[in-house]
Amino acid sequence: MNKEPLKFKNGKFKIMLIGDLHESYDMHSENAAEIVEDMHALLSKAVEQLNPDLVVYLGDNAFAENKMQMRSVISRIVYPVSVKDIPFALVFGNHDREHGVSLQEQMRLYNEYDNCYLFNADDSITGYGNYNLLVKDSKAEKDILNLWFIDSNNKAENQELSYYDWVHEDQIEWYKKTALELKEKNGGKVIPALLFQHTPVPEEYELLREAKTYEKLDSVPGHGKWSNKNYVLKDCVEGYLGEGPCVPCLNSGQFAAWKEIGDVMGAFFGHDHMNDFAGYVDGIMLAQSKTAGFRPYTDGCRSGVRLITLDENNLENIQTRMYHFKQFGLKSKSLSPYMQNVTDRQDMKLKVAGTVLGTVAAVTTAAVAVNKISKNKK
Ligand SMILES: [Fe+2]
Ligand SMILES: [Fe+2]
Repeated sequence: MNKEPLKFKNGKFKIMLIGDLHESYDMHSENAAEIVEDMHALLSKAVEQLNPDLVVYLGDNAFAENKMQMRSVISRIVYPVSVKDIPFALVFGNHDREHGVSLQEQMRLYNEYDNCYLFNADDSITGYGNYNLLVKDSKAEKDILNLWFIDSNNKAENQELSYYDWVHEDQIEWYKKTALELKEKNGGKVIPALLFQHTPVPEEYELLREAKTYEKLDSVPGHGKWSNKNYVLKDCVEGYLGEGPCVPCLNSGQFAAWKEIGDVMGAFFGHDHMNDFAGYVDGIMLAQSKTAGFRPYTDGCRSGVRLITLDENNLENIQTRMYHFKQFGLKSKSLSPYMQNVTDRQDMKLKVAGTVLGTVAAVTTAAVAVNKISKNKK
């Protein structure tokens, strides 16, 4: 690939993550213009204030029925980044293959932008858009960081095994082979790496614990084989759990491969639009980036981007945090005043409280009526 190499600047390298925009060609449905305005306001403000060295779109990015429409949608989501000439990369999500434009065509369209670093490293393995990018130190002398981009595919072919597909064995073998080649070129030492992927790994459930009875309103039901329990975040995990992680039920050994090779310091995922937690499992950071858009189901005014900051003298100390729409001081044009001021959790609690109060009122009214009838009978 013939691009300017990525590199640290003044000792730092900043990556901004944009999750699940679900941007579509449609501009006619209710609030469509305001929804796009909100998304642009967030991305433009985030790029301006955070000044990233690389932007990564985490999948479920753009929907359209044909090539012409897709070019237009891509320009909409890429504009705030491209206008500043910031390099961007991306992974595809499950929904990116559910419409009229193939992933190959989408990749060509993204690559109409000079600042796009997306490519497919190996046509012989499962998925599209499996690749890695190396990052040089501030002096541009040495590759000191590696970035993996892995395609987590679509829904599983065999729905009895899992609703969502997993990263396949041939992809894991490609990762191992490439990581070992890099290690050899690097004098026998693995190159520390971060990994970006749409669907999270099942190990995310190790960041959660079963909710106690009194925590029910602050918990979420799990997904798939975890769906018979409710969960909250463990104390050592930062961020927000808005839904049960929708991971594959089958564990293909991807996380185990990271441990075996020893290069992946942290893995970052999209897919779950409400989740933005980050924690460590066996020394590897697993972090979610919730949707940065307003098209899909969202969480009040808390759509946001995640920033990762690395220091070339202390690579393993990954600094990361979410920046939500509200925190940038932005005012939403697409959300009602009510939804601008509550999270989905608060909304749910208010609805539960409303239902309980309504039930109590109804029961009280019925009891008074029965009492009156029985008094009249006497
Ligand atoms: Fe999504
Ligand atoms: Fe998804």
